[in-house]
Amino acid sequence: MTASTAAQAAYIVAALLFILSLAGLSRHETSRSGIAFGVSGMVIALLATIGLASRSITATGIGLLFVAMLIGGGLGIWRARIVEMTRMPELIAMLHSFVGLAAVLVGWNGYLDVEARASTQTEIAGSLLRIHHAEIVIGVFIGAVTFTGSVVAYLKLSARIRSNPLMLPGKNLLNVGALVAFAVLTVWFVVHPSLALLIAVTAVALALGWHLVASIGGGDMPVVVSMLNSYSGWAAAASGFLLNNNLLIITGALVGSSGAYLSYIMCLAMNRSFLSVIAGGFGIEAASTDDTDHGEHRETSAEDTAALLRDATSVIITPGYGMAVAQAQYPVAELTRRLRELGVQVRFGIHPVAGRLPGHMNVLLAEAKVPYDIVLEMDEINEDFVRTSVVLVIGANDTVNPAATDPDSPIAGMPVLRVWEAADVIVFKRSMATGYAGVQNPLFFRDNSQMLFGDAKDRVEDILRALGTVAARGESGRVGSGRDHPALVGG
Ligand code: TAP
Repeated sequence: MTASTAAQAAYIVAALLFILSLAGLSRHETSRSGIAFGVSGMVIALLATIGLASRSITATGIGLLFVAMLIGGGLGIWRARIVEMTRMPELIAMLHSFVGLAAVLVGWNGYLDVEARASTQTEIAGSLLRIHHAEIVIGVFIGAVTFTGSVVAYLKLSARIRSNPLMLPGKNLLNVGALVAFAVLTVWFVVHPSLALLIAVTAVALALGWHLVASIGGGDMPVVVSMLNSYSGWAAAASGFLLNNNLLIITGALVGSSGAYLSYIMCLAMNRSFLSVIAGGFGIEAASTDDTDHGEHRETSAEDTAALLRDATSVIITPGYGMAVAQAQYPVAELTRRLRELGVQVRFGIHPVAGRLPGHMNVLLAEAKVPYDIVLEMDEINEDFVRTSVVLVIGANDTVNPAATDPDSPIAGMPVLRVWEAADVIVFKRSMATGYAGVQNPLFFRDNSQMLFGDAKDRVEDILRALGTVAARGESGRVGSGRDHPALVGG
């Protein structure tokens, strides 16, 4: 068996392991084995590729390859070990930008290498050379869009730039214009390849990637991250064609299609148009600025909240990003246990994009050992708020924002947890600041809402302490809005 046949066989094994990895990662219970399959596939793929490359590069080249792998692997392990879970999306966005940049460099190398060596040109003569040029320009385009798009996503997710959508005049025309320019430049480059044309394609793609993601508002960022994941897959597949590497084509296609499917189902969950999001908010016009006077908000204390909870029959907790930041899941789990002991029905309502990762809240609650069966998805619990005594909104904002029902709001149409339908709503946060999407939340000013300011963990611990006192005194008497929810009266 030749080295090349052995490498191709190893590639097939690695490709199968990647497919098993994706299957494993699709369920909580099998996700660890999914990771193990992925790591094994990657090790096999790297060894096979190094084996193949070692036939055509010098010993110094191999040495440099290992040095690069050690530095890259070391940095990767270091970052992955220190990253907080709330910062995972920005790390992923940064990693996608590397894939995009790599695809651009592979494309450029493909062009410069062939141009520099006349012998290679005669090797891939005629129509094959044209296909090669088309591969270059397409790979560079997808890579450059992924690169700048991911950099902007990283800057938005890490709050280094504002998450508001950029609304340039004629933004849709700009995007369409860039696509038309790409099509024209591609044909031109295939017929008469030149460095100037390659520079032009790269510049158009860099600008388009930047504009596409800058035009998308904060609320749609989860979809953007999975969309960039998809783009990075297609960029890798394009590099695979250029490098004539079957495994890169297969892996790129797996990442590209699974990322596209994830974006699609996230759009369905958030009632967003898939085409609009992938086209950089195509069709979404600038929202009117919110200068509405929502009135005054009311504040409450941990002691009053404890008394309110003590007398409640049913409580729903809707956690959000702030619970993750405060690491409040452990006292929240303890509060749940205490209230259940007192005979209060406690359940959790989880929004599909609460926090900063798909499944973020589920992971935190599972970590704190909250029983699975009381953690319900938004669609399973949204009808029940109307029959609920108290809702504790712990560090959530956009996912409970009634402004989503306002057609002029930037988050219009996004399904939200209808917490305001409950008798009393207590909102845990540190200030009146807006959530990730930068949209004011009228929930805070409703008659049945009260704000419990401070770090979520500290406030829940205060409630736990106060609950002990309230339980000991056997106090009763409501301390909330002073009114009963119509659905609870007589029920
Ligand atoms: P957000 O809208 O992000 O609001 C979180 C709230 O938590 C903020 O209003 C903040 O208010 C409060 N907070 C922060 N630290 C706190 C602390 N230590 N103690 C108490 N409160 C604290 O949260 P959400 O409702 O979970 O919505 C998620 C948002 O992120 C959505 O817009 C979603 O589209 C976006 N997003 C989601 C994902 C995924 S996949 N889940 C990925 C990227 C983006 P204060 O500053 O006043 O305390």
